[in-house]
Amino acid sequence: MGEHSALIDRLGRALAPELPLLARDGGFIAPGFALHLDDLLTLRDESRRLIAAMQARYADLSGVGGLKIRHNNVLGYYIEVTPTHADKLMSGKAAETFIHRQTLASAVRFSTVELGELERKISEAADKALAVELTLFDELVGDVTARSAGIGEAARALALLDVATSLAELAEERRYCRPVVDDSLEFDIRGGRHPVVEAALTASDGSRFVANDCALPPDDRLWLLTGPNMAGKSTFLRQNALIAVMAQIGSYVPANHCRIGMVDRLFSRVGAADDLARGRSTFMVEMVETAAILNQAGPRALVILDEIGRGTATFDGLSIAWACVEHLHEATRCRALFATHYHELTALAAKLARLSCHTMRIKEWQGEVVFLHEVAAGSADRSYGIHVAKLAGLPEAVIARAEQVLEILEKGDHGVSVSRLADDLPLFSVALRRKEPEAAAPTGPSAVELALREINPDDLTPKAALEELYRLRGMLGPER
Ligand SMILES: Nc1ncnc2c1ncn2[C@@H]1O[C@H](COP(=O)(O)OP(=O)(O)OP(=O)(O)O)[C@@H](O)[C@H]1O
Ligand SMILES: [Mg+2]
Repeated sequence: MGEHSALIDRLGRALAPELPLLARDGGFIAPGFALHLDDLLTLRDESRRLIAAMQARYADLSGVGGLKIRHNNVLGYYIEVTPTHADKLMSGKAAETFIHRQTLASAVRFSTVELGELERKISEAADKALAVELTLFDELVGDVTARSAGIGEAARALALLDVATSLAELAEERRYCRPVVDDSLEFDIRGGRHPVVEAALTASDGSRFVANDCALPPDDRLWLLTGPNMAGKSTFLRQNALIAVMAQIGSYVPANHCRIGMVDRLFSRVGAADDLARGRSTFMVEMVETAAILNQAGPRALVILDEIGRGTATFDGLSIAWACVEHLHEATRCRALFATHYHELTALAAKLARLSCHTMRIKEWQGEVVFLHEVAAGSADRSYGIHVAKLAGLPEAVIARAEQVLEILEKGDHGVSVSRLADDLPLFSVALRRKEPEAAAPTGPSAVELALREINPDDLTPKAALEELYRLRGMLGPER
């Protein structure tokens, strides 16, 4: 850190508590730091008092009580009286003192030699004060730059300390563990968590992040991860990449146990983005990034690939994803996590020895999907995309139609079923649904639900209960 107390002390004494944005505005040297500067500033700041005294004296001298000394940018300081009193300043003894400057309809203006003198002193004092401040500024800058190497070192030391103590604090607060990083090709995380999602969950509703293991030993170094939308695939991929980064920067990691054979490069392909200005569409960006990974990753790399091949026709995408998995397994031979909705890819597990299938566990309960966020061996057979679309608020008519379409597609031969779908455009059923109020996106509890909430069954007599039932049924309207 070095020894900087002399400089800190000098700067502390020199600088005013409130500093201007620009040095040229002045006013940044603290009072008491430079006495000659203080004198000049007193003169400048006392101008008000001096001018007020002069005004009183001139009022006396001229016998005009309403005499004022004012200032504007054109005339500088001037003496002003109303036209009715102007004569008093232009005749007799007063005429020797007051020099006429300007006559306006509402005022006559004068100056005096003495006022001119004071004005010059005031502005000179301000100029001088600023010049003194700027000289002091240069000296202070010189003091600081003379020690710049030491200050830079102190800043670096502080930064290092800041990172180390912050990571230590996190490790302590969030129960991180000390990772082992060695020369093996292991990747063994137990009870791993995503540091950011975990913190966000705790902060938002106190719900618990589900910890997951990830073991990529040399004979099982490629994981194919399937599972419904919203189940936690992307989170799992990223948490493992983050744990690798954290372990290798010397931090503790959000896991119960962590052993990582040094990763020489970390590659990730996630999300969708385009770069239109540089001539790259969404799919092109995805492919450029995938190409970089397949061309550059070596056996020590860690690769996470999140949904390759989504931005093109289904079969093109599936074929590309298929070939990428094979290439990662056969040629790159690195540790990799590959998340996908192409469930067909799980067939590769039979053929590729070092590939295994994993899935995000869910439970189906009363027609709903419950996400458990647990990674388990095996593969998913459905993505429950329509379920997630419903959660997201797609219109009910669209959801219902999507369910129909899915059923037809899943039943039959792809080409035939699509042409059948097109023959059977559901224009009228959509229009009909739209008219029904129930088909509108749910915007909150219905009137019937609200009425139900008001009822306290324990307080009702059997007769009142029956009446309530009729009333509620009435709220639903006539039968269709
Ligand atoms: N292990 C976990 N514990 C608790 N919540 C989790 C966990 N993993 C994910 N989540 C929650 O689930 C949400 C969705 O996760 P994520 O985006 O990883 O799903 P996904 O399987 O990649 O879905 P998609 O297929 O739609 O991309 C996250 O935003 C997070 O709030
Ligand atoms: Mg995802």
